[in-house]
Amino acid sequence: MTHSSAPGKIILFGEHAVVYGRPALAVPVTQVHADVEVSDSARSGIWIEAPAVGLQAELNALAPDHPLAAVINNLFFRSHVSPFPNLEIRITSTIPVASGLGSGAAVTVALTRALASHLDGSMTDEELNAFAYEIEKIHHGTPSGIDNTVVTYARPVYFVKDQSIETFLVGQPFTIVIADTGIPAPTKESVADVRKLFESDEKYWDNVFDEMADISFAARRVIEEGWIEMLGALLDENHALLQHLTVSSPELDALVEAARRAGALGAKLSGGGRGGNMIALVEPESAETVAASLKEAGARNTIITQIT
Ligand code: MEV
Repeated sequence: MTHSSAPGKIILFGEHAVVYGRPALAVPVTQVHADVEVSDSARSGIWIEAPAVGLQAELNALAPDHPLAAVINNLFFRSHVSPFPNLEIRITSTIPVASGLGSGAAVTVALTRALASHLDGSMTDEELNAFAYEIEKIHHGTPSGIDNTVVTYARPVYFVKDQSIETFLVGQPFTIVIADTGIPAPTKESVADVRKLFESDEKYWDNVFDEMADISFAARRVIEEGWIEMLGALLDENHALLQHLTVSSPELDALVEAARRAGALGAKLSGGGRGGNMIALVEPESAETVAASLKEAGARNTIITQIT
C-alpha cells in the first residue's frame, strides 16, 4: 500500500488579480490535509472511495472529465501503464470543499503522488505541479496555477502566472485565524464572474488589479522583513478592493468586521470569495478570543495557524 498527503492552502494576498498576471502570496495550511491510500485489489477494476464527497465508484463509472478520473487516466496514459492495474483507492480529506482552502488541488497532488509511487514511478515537484495544473483547469476553468503550486511545494509562495516558482521567507512568524462562512462557493464561478466584469471595462479593472499587485509586492517585503505590525492594513486594503471586485459577500464581510472588532490587526476574504473562508491577522495571545468571536458571528469552523 502507498500513502500520500497534501496540505490545504490559504491565499494571503492577490487572489483574482493573480489570474491576470499580478503577483499573489499563498501559504500551506497543514492543519487540514487530503490523504490518499492506494493498494492492489483482489477485484477487477479501479475502485475509488471518497467518503467526504459521498463517492464510491469504479473508474469507468465516472465521467471522463471527472477530476479524479482525469488524474488516473492522464497519469496512466502518460506513464504508458497498460492494461490498468486493479486498485483500491481511498481518499479522505479534512479540507472543506469549495471553501478557498485548495481542496481540489490537495486531492489531485496527494492522489498523483500516491499513484506514481505505487507504480514505482517518481515525479519531480516540477512535473507534478505541471500535471496538477492541467487537472486544476477541469476544476476551475482558467486558474492561475497558484493553488497547485503552493500545495505541491508546501512552502510559502510568491506566485506570478507563467513565471518560475519563487518561495519567500517569513522574517518573523505570525498568527492567522481562518474562519469558514460554511457557504460553499466554487472558484470557477467567481473567476468567471470577474472575467465578465473585467471584459466590461478592461482599463478600469486593470488599474484595480495593479493596486492589488502593489499590495502583494509590499506584503512580501513586510513579511520577509518581519514588520508584522504593517501587515494588518495591507489585508484591510486588499479586502476593500475584493469587495469592489464584487467577490465578497454579506457573510464574509460580517466575519471580517467581527474579527476587527475582536482585536484582529487586519482581515480579508481568502480565495475565490462569495463564500468559503476569510483570514484575520492576530496577536498570538488574542487568537482564541478572535476565533471565539468569529464563531459567535456565524463562522462554521475556525483554524488558528502560524505562518513560519
Ligand atoms: C483561488 O484559490 C484563487 C483565485 O485567484 C483563482 C486562481 O488563482 O486560479 C481566485
